[in-house]
Amino acid sequence: MDIKIFKTAEEASKAAAEIFKDTLKTGQEVFGLATGSTPEKTYEILVESDLDFSNAIAINLDEYYGIASTHDQSYAYFMNQHLFQHKPFKETHIPNGENTDAEDEVTRYDAILEKYPRDLQILGIGSNGHIAFNEPGSSFDATTTKVKLTDSTIQDNSRFFDNKDEVPQEAYSMGIKSIMDAKHIILMAFGESKADAIKKIIEGPVTEDVPASVLQKHPNVTLLLDEAVASKLSSN
Ligand code: F6R
Repeated sequence: MDIKIFKTAEEASKAAAEIFKDTLKTGQEVFGLATGSTPEKTYEILVESDLDFSNAIAINLDEYYGIASTHDQSYAYFMNQHLFQHKPFKETHIPNGENTDAEDEVTRYDAILEKYPRDLQILGIGSNGHIAFNEPGSSFDATTTKVKLTDSTIQDNSRFFDNKDEVPQEAYSMGIKSIMDAKHIILMAFGESKADAIKKIIEGPVTEDVPASVLQKHPNVTLLLDEAVASKLSSN
């Protein structure tokens, strides 16, 4: 793992935007994208840049189950607000949270993942070590799945909703195997609340109990951290 520690989240976000730029420059145009607060600044920098994504394909990690794409907390809505409406992509893909036929949705999304191997995959991390919505205990061999969110994720994400009861309890998520298929993975993490998770994924064993620990096995991972999230690392 290539670990880069920055003074602030903003500097780390600029570094992520630079990696997008370098990826595009080499003609690689399939981007695996994340939502949540972590990549927001990077998307803002991309929107303000002169980068051209009109030939690029965007494939998102996950979507809440049972939520309309027009809901202001759906990940489809998030991506439109933060990136797609400002920077048009050739194609954008996101699991369809309104598809109640899980088998159908999983098959549909896996076919998209098969068709478009990711050149660059962006990840955030949950305080419990999840990546996408692969919660602790998720199989490293999984492709797309309909998952049950853990209480800790529902609690973490309740900050975006009026109250905890409104947070969807299930989601569609790209599986860990599909995430690991990307050529280059960037994981960004900021703030003290994720310092334990970051220490575990870098210094702990590779275990399904800590989903992001699988990244130790990927040949090309860049961790972009701020000082707060890196504060518990032994080498610090
Ligand atoms: C979202 C996603 C999640 C988030 C994680 C951290 O698409 O895949 O794994 O990256 O829950 O969320 P934030 O960035 O809001 O702390």
